[in-house]
Amino acid sequence: MASPLPSLAYCNESQVTIVGAGNVGSALAQRIAERDLANVVLFDIIPDRPQGLALDLTQARSHGRYSHRILGTNDYADTAQSDLLVITAGLARRPGMSREDLMATNGKIVAETVRQALVHSPHASIIVVTNPLDVMTYLAWKVSELPPQRVMGMAGMLDSARFQTFLALELGVPAGDVAALVVGSHDDRMVPLPRYSTVSGIPVTELLPPDRIQAAIDRTRQGGAEIVALLKQGGAFYGPAAAACAMVESIVLGQSRILPAAAYLDGQYGLADLYLGTPCQLGKGGVERVIELALTPAEQAELGRSAVAVKDNLNLALATLMS
Ligand code: LAC
Repeated sequence: MASPLPSLAYCNESQVTIVGAGNVGSALAQRIAERDLANVVLFDIIPDRPQGLALDLTQARSHGRYSHRILGTNDYADTAQSDLLVITAGLARRPGMSREDLMATNGKIVAETVRQALVHSPHASIIVVTNPLDVMTYLAWKVSELPPQRVMGMAGMLDSARFQTFLALELGVPAGDVAALVVGSHDDRMVPLPRYSTVSGIPVTELLPPDRIQAAIDRTRQGGAEIVALLKQGGAFYGPAAAACAMVESIVLGQSRILPAAAYLDGQYGLADLYLGTPCQLGKGGVERVIELALTPAEQAELGRSAVAVKDNLNLALATLMS
C-alpha cells in the first residue's frame, strides 16, 4: 500500500530503496530524507511498519527543507526503477544462535531480497549492510549476477568512524579532524591502519604512543560488541546508518569519494574472489575504483588472516545454502 499522503516531490531524481525497516533501515531513511539526497522507498515484509515510518518521516518533512518523496511498502513493485538498493534486512544474532545459524538465515533473506528487488530495478547498484557483512555482500553479488562494481558492502566506513572517534578521544581533538582508516573484515579481525590515519595531515603515529594507538585499535575492533552489550537487545544503528548514508550520497550525487567499503577483490593484496574492506572510489557507477594500499608485511599478514576467516565463513554459508 502506498503512503496515503500525496507526494510533495518536485524532482525526478535518484531513488534509493532500503530493504528492511528495522533500526538501521529507518535511521538511514531519516538521514537520506533530511539530507534531501533522493526519493526513498522503505520496504519491509512486516505489514504496515514501513508505511507507518514513511508517514511519520513525511510529516517530519514539514520542519525541514527537504522535498523528496518517502514511500513505505510491503510490495517490491513499489520499489521499481530504483538506482540504489540498500539491504539491511536480516536478523541480529540472538543469544544461543550460532554464527552458522545466522549465516544460513540471513543468507536466505539476502538472496531472496536481492532476487526480488532486482526484478523491478535491474539497473540498480547494491549496498549490503546485513551481517555477517563480507559474506552477505558476496552472496548478494553472486545472486545478483551483476558486475562486481555494482555490489558493495558497508562496514569500512563504520569501523573507520569508530577508529576516528577513539583516536580523537585519545588526542582530545574534534573527530572531524581525524581521518582514520580500517580495512579487512567487519569483525574482530578487522585491520585498523594507524600508518594511514592522520590528524590534519599528521600521521597519528607521530602524535600518540603505541600503547594508546593500540587501545584505540582494540576498542574499534570491539566497537559493535560494546554497543550490543550496552543496549542488551539489538546493535548499533546511528553509526551504521550514518556510514551507509555517506556511501549513498557519494553514489547518488556522483561525488566519487574515496571511502572504505567491502569491495570485490580480484587479485588486489594477493587476494581474489571475495569481498573485503578496502578503500575504493564510489560514484554513479558503484565501485569505480578499488584502491590497493601498499602494506607492510605485518599489515599484509593481518589482512590475510582477516581474508581467511571471511573465506571460511563464505564456504560455510555457500554449503549451508546449497544443502
Ligand atoms: C556493528 C554492527 C552493526 O558493527 O555490525 O555495530
